[in-house]
Amino acid sequence: MIPTQRHLFDIPEDIAYLNCAYLGPLSNAVVAAGRGAADRKAHPWEISSEDFFTETEVARALFARIINASEEDIAIIPAASYGVSVAARNLPLARGETVVLLEEQFPSNVYAWRASADEACAQVVTVERPPDGDLTRVVLDAIDERTAIVALPHCHWADGALLDLVRIGERSRELGASLVLDVTQSCGVLPLDVQIIRPDYLVSACYKWLLGPYNTGFMYVAPQRQDGKPIEYNWRARTGSEDFAGLVNYKDAYLPGARRFDVGECANFHTLPALIAALEQTLQWGVPEIAITLAARNVGIAERASTLGLDSLNADQRAGHFLGLRFPEGIPAALLNSLKEAGVYVSVRGSSLRITPHLYNDDADVDRLMDALKFAMA
Ligand SMILES: Cc1ncc(COP(=O)(O)O)c(C=O)c1O
Repeated sequence: MIPTQRHLFDIPEDIAYLNCAYLGPLSNAVVAAGRGAADRKAHPWEISSEDFFTETEVARALFARIINASEEDIAIIPAASYGVSVAARNLPLARGETVVLLEEQFPSNVYAWRASADEACAQVVTVERPPDGDLTRVVLDAIDERTAIVALPHCHWADGALLDLVRIGERSRELGASLVLDVTQSCGVLPLDVQIIRPDYLVSACYKWLLGPYNTGFMYVAPQRQDGKPIEYNWRARTGSEDFAGLVNYKDAYLPGARRFDVGECANFHTLPALIAALEQTLQWGVPEIAITLAARNVGIAERASTLGLDSLNADQRAGHFLGLRFPEGIPAALLNSLKEAGVYVSVRGSSLRITPHLYNDDADVDRLMDALKFAMA
């Protein structure tokens, strides 16, 4: 268990920020790295052509460690939707085949599939959530001989309902379907090993649970998918691009590994140093340790919430870092504002009050949440 890390953040005592699934705060170290990065661009003569390649490699390697990949398999992307667009452009889909998605999945992992299915006269199969909450079972049932692509998160973005990606990966491979994962709502706080799950593509934005800047993300591309087509014509992704004087010796070949899928201007002087500091912090805490700590925090909140008549998915049905509280008669209209007035920041997603703490939260935040809920429900 990791003790509260609030001292590393600029969060006033009277704010209970339990909304990491919306936007993760930057730690003081990340802010300092970001400020340094902005200062550096004020002095461009200090930026060499090598800098266009060194920091990207550092960031790639750090992210690779978080998901147990090789840095060769990582592309730098600006948003989850960008990575899913790359996957959709490259995965074959034929008439009559299906793409399996989850009901009310985040749109970044939906629109590209709808477009691909439309173009191919294929079908999107949307798996409904069963009353018993066993999402894995219904997803496994939906994967059959017609399935070409299974595109899922690790946990649902509204209430954290968890999927067993190891079993889903196995079933997908058995039936020859490709697996595309959007782990934006779990990466860095829920252990995941691409060597075991073996997705074809995995994407994550970094501005939530990885506590990084906005407009930063990564995509894992399985080795057998690395000869695919990027969705843009990025000069830096071509061989020999380190030689700035020779850039007009146009090259058809790409940099090795997944680098061909890097977004244009991925050597972002403003965001990369901050992103690197954020990834280093996650690795220093350790993903399994973060997961255990946040799971215990949420179990404590769920127990106290149940005394107010608010229920949630059982701890074994949801990701530990996520809690969706359900109100027996629906979420009161004024609830969010009332919580905000008490300094409590959470979200409403679907029919759940979404509580998503990180290591900067402490016991006083939970007391503040409970007091505010009691007051709002009185
Ligand atoms: C599951 C999930 N994926 C992705 C995103 C962000 O998507 P993008 O990076 O495409 O803006 C969110 C934001 O809430 C999300 O919940």
